[in-house]
Amino acid sequence: MSSHSFTPRLTLHDLRKLAATRKLAMLTCYDAAFAATLDAAGVDMILIGDSLGMVVQGHDSTLPVTVEHIAYHTACVARGAARAWIVADMPFGSFQVSPEQAFTNAVTLMQAGSQMVKIEGGAEMAPTVEFLVRRGIPVCAHIGLTPQHVNVFGGYRVQGRDVGAAERLLDSARRLQDAGAAMMVIEAVPEPLARRVAESVQLITIGIGASAACAGQVLVLHDLLGAGVGRRPRFVKNFLQGSASLEAAVGAYIAEVQAGRFPGPEHVYAEGAGS
Ligand code: KIV
Repeated sequence: MSSHSFTPRLTLHDLRKLAATRKLAMLTCYDAAFAATLDAAGVDMILIGDSLGMVVQGHDSTLPVTVEHIAYHTACVARGAARAWIVADMPFGSFQVSPEQAFTNAVTLMQAGSQMVKIEGGAEMAPTVEFLVRRGIPVCAHIGLTPQHVNVFGGYRVQGRDVGAAERLLDSARRLQDAGAAMMVIEAVPEPLARRVAESVQLITIGIGASAACAGQVLVLHDLLGAGVGRRPRFVKNFLQGSASLEAAVGAYIAEVQAGRFPGPEHVYAEGAGS
């Protein structure tokens, strides 16, 4: 008989059950040591975000990130984190051509160690989401400020400000849910709109610059730790300030999210407010 003990990894079923009792905490992560730290602190979900193009690789956007980059960092994270649900970002150009292209690249990320892939985009991505889910790949949608559209948006701007854009966002959320998305990141939209979206869908909503009404929250790990220089978006909070250690900072983020204390009103966008 084996004495080997292991931590069972959270499943989508576990996350849905947890979301009925408290908020869910997600963080980005790109390596094994941080993954082990986040896992030990009790983070629910880890995202290997294409934000790695900016915070790890030093680019000024996420566009240069490739499937191979995300797969490499996903494998590193999967070796470090035993319990957290792992989501790998599908980078720019890896899923937009066709559902078949998305499936081929998603398989690479799942085989690298993720349990789910994340896809930026609205209703136009619904057929791709359905194609992946029907073939065994759970999908996290990503609406609102989708950084891969930075050149279309003309910068990293709050989305969904006018009535037409708000209705399109709501419609996208419903269509992505109908297509089978199990989770959805809502990024940088006015709080009342983010709340409407969160309250009108049943899937797990994850906010970033969105609303405390979302089922969970995500932050880029480097932002939580105050690493890097330059202007920070409104939704960023430096949890290392006032914490005695890295572990305490991560623990403080998880505790504040799970208790529904983060984000506060100062971390979300009021309707019509500037970005
Ligand atoms: O790439 C990323 O880190 C993300 C999160 C900010 C949601 O997409």
